[in-house]
Amino acid sequence: MSDIENLERDLLAKITAAETGAALEDVRVAALGKKGVVSERMKTLGKMSPEERKEMGPALNGLKSRIADAIEAKKTELEEAALNARLASEKIDVTLPIRPEPKGKIHPVSQVTEEIIAIFSAMGFDVAEGPDIEDDFHNFTALNFPPDHPAREMHDTFFFEPKEDGSRMLLRTHTSPVQIRTMMSQKPPIRIIIPGRTFRCDSDQTHTPMFHQVEGLVIDKETHMGHLKGTLEAFVKTFFEISDVKTRFRPHFFPFTEPSAEMDVQYERVGNEVRFGQGDKWMEILGCGMVHPNVLRNCGLDPDEYQGFAWGMGVDRLAMLKYGIPDLRDFFAADARWLEHYGFDAADQPSLWAGLSK
Ligand code: DAH
Repeated sequence: MSDIENLERDLLAKITAAETGAALEDVRVAALGKKGVVSERMKTLGKMSPEERKEMGPALNGLKSRIADAIEAKKTELEEAALNARLASEKIDVTLPIRPEPKGKIHPVSQVTEEIIAIFSAMGFDVAEGPDIEDDFHNFTALNFPPDHPAREMHDTFFFEPKEDGSRMLLRTHTSPVQIRTMMSQKPPIRIIIPGRTFRCDSDQTHTPMFHQVEGLVIDKETHMGHLKGTLEAFVKTFFEISDVKTRFRPHFFPFTEPSAEMDVQYERVGNEVRFGQGDKWMEILGCGMVHPNVLRNCGLDPDEYQGFAWGMGVDRLAMLKYGIPDLRDFFAADARWLEHYGFDAADQPSLWAGLSK
């Protein structure tokens, strides 16, 4: 075997044996680097006779290019192996369940509020909000409660200590003051719903000192009772997810609406369960009416130009009815077991297209 063949075999064996990029680089430098064995051999060509060079030239060039190819091939092989090893070690199995399981549930009040917002948003309503701590003007006076009117007493108001001028701030007893704030700051047409916390000094199975309402207000130039009925009937059908449910409007009194009504929904009790859309019983679910001309005037609107309708409903009560929750006080007892049972998955976002409740 010739000297060159020996050298080639030796170098190829070293290339094959190289296990890392660095080891391979050492082999390359030792063979093809400036002072490498192959390079040193190439230098000898200049001193050879033409005949010798004719034979050794192609032999050495062939050696050089085969060694260079072999190094290149080995380099690619090592890089691929390194990449595969890295991919294998960094692999994430996305089908594995999350540990620990996500904890926490959405409270029924939040869920039902979102359901109500989804329904009225689709009808073109905006969401408005106002402060929990109110003054007498927004909570009562502007809403046409006359001074010393018994309706003020009916609200079992929580008052703060009197200020120096004798006036007292209060915890709003309903979301209606946000009607006033909106009408005083915004030009009609107005189409809003007002979700929020409300407060009354009351506590039993269906009353808690803090509860939730959603108020609605529509003000425009040609608004009438038919719009009120149509809006609220559409709401009830969508909310209870029954297309065929009877509703009834009973005359009532609220200082801020004229005429005023309470809306009842047809239901039947089967065992412990309340079923809407069947039977011959009526359940009151909200108060409503045409906005009183005095209220419009109090907000700087001309009742001969604008009319409107409004309603107010208890979110907690609607949640109890829809999801069969027996005692309102448990809503605010902060019992994790209760929330685990009655709460909703964070992923269950209510929407009209995906279904309100799953
Ligand atoms: N504010 C009333 C309450 O808390 C509910 C209500 C009734 C609101 C009729 C309205 C309405 O806007 O028109 O008892």
